[in-house]
Amino acid sequence: MKTLIVYSSKSGNTRRLAETVNDFLPGTNTIQSVEEKPDPAGYDLVVVGFWLQAGKADPASSEFLQSLSSSKVFLFATHGAAVGSPHAEKGMQNAKDLAGSCTIAGTFSCQGEVRPEFLAKVQKKDPPPPWIGDAPAAVGHPDTTDIENLKKAIEEAVG
Ligand SMILES: Cc1cc2nc3c(=O)[nH]c(=O)nc-3n(C[C@H](O)[C@H](O)[C@H](O)COP(=O)(O)O)c2cc1C
Repeated sequence: MKTLIVYSSKSGNTRRLAETVNDFLPGTNTIQSVEEKPDPAGYDLVVVGFWLQAGKADPASSEFLQSLSSSKVFLFATHGAAVGSPHAEKGMQNAKDLAGSCTIAGTFSCQGEVRPEFLAKVQKKDPPPPWIGDAPAAVGHPDTTDIENLKKAIEEAVG
């Protein structure tokens, strides 16, 4: 299987998961940052890793997702919000919608530690964003359990 792994990452959380997928998936893998403008043509699977910004896939990933047509896609995300929270679920749904013409083989998301300077800044916002209460629990994520869960999710999705 020929897989393209595309990720966006400002502080390293999502990149770490992308590297896990690259090491874990058998076959021929190519890993690229979304900034490198990856070309999805000719791949059996496109894995896209993004982080949540303002409740959606970060802008660079959103643009890439929108540009995809008819690929088989596995999506993963990191976020400050709790896993399974309405905020996190909506963010993933938004990414799925952006990749509307694609086949979504599976998804995974987990918390990703929020940079302390940004957290301090955002805590002062009125009203604070809906995910802020979950952010302290994101410290140390993604952790080894998240990484194992990602491997399981992608294995189940693409065998
Ligand atoms: C500018 C900015 C906006 C963010 N907005 C959200 C958000 O809307 N929802 C959320 O759950 N987390 C939000 N976060 C937290 C990040 O999604 C989270 O820390 C993620 O793991 C960062 O990934 P990275 O290390 O790959 O850059 C935000 C972080 C930053 C820096």
